[in-house]
Amino acid sequence: MKLRVLLVVASLVLSVLIGSSLASRGTGRQAGGDRGITIGLSLDTLKEARWQADRDMFVKRAGELGARVLVLAANSDDTVQIGDVEKLITNRVDVLVIVPHDGTAMAKGVKMAHDAGIPVIAYDRIIRDSDLDLYVSFDNERVGELQARYLVDHLPTPGRGRIVRIYGAKTDNNASQFKRGQDRVLEPYIARGDIVVVHEDWAEDWKPENAKRIVNAAITAGGPDIDAVLASNDGTAGGAIQALSEEGLAGKVLVTGQDAEIVALQRIAAGTQTMTIYKPLQTLARGAAELAVRLASRHIVVARQTVDNGHGPIPAVLYDVVTVTRDNILDTVVRDRQASYDDVYRGIPEAQRPPRP
Ligand code: BGC
Repeated sequence: MKLRVLLVVASLVLSVLIGSSLASRGTGRQAGGDRGITIGLSLDTLKEARWQADRDMFVKRAGELGARVLVLAANSDDTVQIGDVEKLITNRVDVLVIVPHDGTAMAKGVKMAHDAGIPVIAYDRIIRDSDLDLYVSFDNERVGELQARYLVDHLPTPGRGRIVRIYGAKTDNNASQFKRGQDRVLEPYIARGDIVVVHEDWAEDWKPENAKRIVNAAITAGGPDIDAVLASNDGTAGGAIQALSEEGLAGKVLVTGQDAEIVALQRIAAGTQTMTIYKPLQTLARGAAELAVRLASRHIVVARQTVDNGHGPIPAVLYDVVTVTRDNILDTVVRDRQASYDDVYRGIPEAQRPPRP
């Protein structure tokens, strides 16, 4: 049976069949068989809260659909992650779902899986220069645009100010996409001299301690006169806020983020972080598990978009994101049960909390 990813463009007017065919790869491999479907999930890391949540929701949804999931996490090490992919292939998984540490290095993993007749889904982060079967993520440039738009509009003098920029891991294609979205908004302000980037750098492996060092360096070089830190995710926002609090600046400087991690929501409630981008992980994780089961069962999958990964257009399913501030925590993440009221307001005195929904 053929594996198919169907790309549907412009409201079903034009349908193009792209993606891979296991049969044409000549493996003749049958999915699951009597043993049921097994999904291999290879994660870059489980050291950030968001990836633990992704894993849990993915495994749960796959279980509801009767599939089992073998999960391996590589602790941000490319050699380990390639080894993980090899192990999952040896375990004869029916489909591989990969969150790559290095989106370029993992092209090798896609090739190995395809040679074994196993389709590959890139989860959240694309794998570059490879014949991926499917990419499931959020609109990452939009994430960057929303972060920068919020920052520009909420500077003490809107549209003007001195900012520090913290990008993510250079190895993560998403980090470049977030930056691209941010650049699109910021460039006219920077070109006019209204916004000055006093310091900018990439936080290796997205680590909070590296983000802290970036803000420390900004303050050492240019002094504490900073209006905002454009941090690309909640982990780096956390590192930035530590550096700011050492200078007595936490809560006085606008700080952006992404992921709506519980600690970030607590900081937003407390006023030290200003915003985050809520990416409904439930939608991504459950959606990806459903698509993985369909690919494993050799069913057609419909994708309405493509993303060019350097090899060509890859069928993509991209979900929407939402800006979260103090004003809409209850109407977004709490409503969707990504976070509970009690967890978010744990550190806030009862009298200062918003009414419980
Ligand atoms: C994800 C972010 C995450 C970051 C660090 C990115 O690829 O899109 O949600 O915060 O990696 O793990």
